[in-house]
Amino acid sequence: MPVSTPHIGFAYVDGDLRAEGLALSRIAATVGTPFYCYSRQALTSGYAGLATALSHLPAMICFAVKANSNLAVISTFAQLGAGADVVSEGELRRALAAGVPPERIVFSGVGKTRDELRFAIEADVGQINVESEPELDALNEIASAMGRTARISFRVNPDVDAHTHDKISTGRRQDKFGIALAKIPDIYARAAAMPGVTPAGVAVHIGSQLLDLTPYRAAFERVATLVTALRAAGHTVERVDLGGGIGIRYRDEDAIDFQDYADLVTEIFNDLDCQLIFEPGRSLVGNAGILVSTVLYVKEGEDRPIVVVDAAMNDLKRPAMYGAYHEIAPARQAPAEAAERAVDVVGPICETGDTFAIRRKMPPVTAGDLLVFGSAGAYGAVMASQYNSRLLAPEVMVDGDKYAVVRARPSYDDMLAMEHVPAWLTRGGAEDSATEEAAKGAETATRGVA
Ligand code: LLP
Repeated sequence: MPVSTPHIGFAYVDGDLRAEGLALSRIAATVGTPFYCYSRQALTSGYAGLATALSHLPAMICFAVKANSNLAVISTFAQLGAGADVVSEGELRRALAAGVPPERIVFSGVGKTRDELRFAIEADVGQINVESEPELDALNEIASAMGRTARISFRVNPDVDAHTHDKISTGRRQDKFGIALAKIPDIYARAAAMPGVTPAGVAVHIGSQLLDLTPYRAAFERVATLVTALRAAGHTVERVDLGGGIGIRYRDEDAIDFQDYADLVTEIFNDLDCQLIFEPGRSLVGNAGILVSTVLYVKEGEDRPIVVVDAAMNDLKRPAMYGAYHEIAPARQAPAEAAERAVDVVGPICETGDTFAIRRKMPPVTAGDLLVFGSAGAYGAVMASQYNSRLLAPEVMVDGDKYAVVRARPSYDDMLAMEHVPAWLTRGGAEDSATEEAAKGAETATRGVA
């Protein structure tokens, strides 16, 4: 994209920002804004970059579906040979529907329900990552009752600070994830004697958006030492799952280079002779997607102009939730001589938190212009909600000069169809039919109380 972020697949041509061969304004004219847009080329080249860096290792790349769970995105990676890392039955169903072979699916997560565990065993997923002793017991019980044996790895909490945002750090001892390293040998031995599970290895994931290899080194070294200790105790350890977390450039950060990451992994695990699983999410999709919005109004605020766009925190939650920075640029490139000015960029939602940027230097924009948010391919659409009863933004995938809407914008009827006013709530309403009259009655009654 535009200014500082390297967005493969998005570039200005004759002043118009294009997704591969297509002007975003053309897609916007048909799809309407706001919408997410992914470049298939960017997805593919991101995956190829990581796969190449890891190609000399016995590696399996399981795309972390939580970062972007659109079926077309998962399918893009599945066609390249990727597996999937999933954290719910919903994500597991998506991975299967997108054509990921079950044996290439890892089921992670700190709170899998019994139904979810049962579903995963039925689907015959390749690995279930166990995060606690009670979960181990539940899984053993469920699998035994089904006459099955689940292949498991234990998620280790290595007590390493990933030096990332507090809300996405997962490997410190006080974090809710994994099992303390010192407890693993005992629990591994217990599991080895259980009929319903086969312990195959260990897993670690210390956080997301890591920009430095140092915490990885600390965690990986602890895990490698653990593997050696488990083997010395007579256990079979065939697999090590190294999680995800590789950070990307949102603004001017030095992102972790896939090759440097692969070199570190090689240094620590090359001689351990085990299959290595990777769970990258953000690094495969973050800069392969953008969010396109329209400027509704430019309001002269007391201190500076306020640019009100039609995208909001319900569409892209990261700025409101983590104070995250996303690049913002007009889809029609400003003339070089246009003077930049500092503006706030905000959405229409009724809270001040619905602010994408404060005092952001931008070329002049006016109502009707398209504004594009960069690095929105990861944890964008997946974290969207209908807050303020706004419809979920659609998702589009571009491939060369063609595009497809890979998730449609729902209609207002779709939104209302899930809800139901029970007859007992409306005065005199017949069972299950909230007639207009009954609804009116309820309204009057409510007003009466107020
Ligand atoms: N594996 C496990 C067990 C995870 O918990 C995660 C992310 C990943 C893999 C993928 O990590 P990645 O490669 O994407 O960093 N919503 C936040 C990010 C939450 C990450 C949660 N876990 C954000 O918008 O920054």
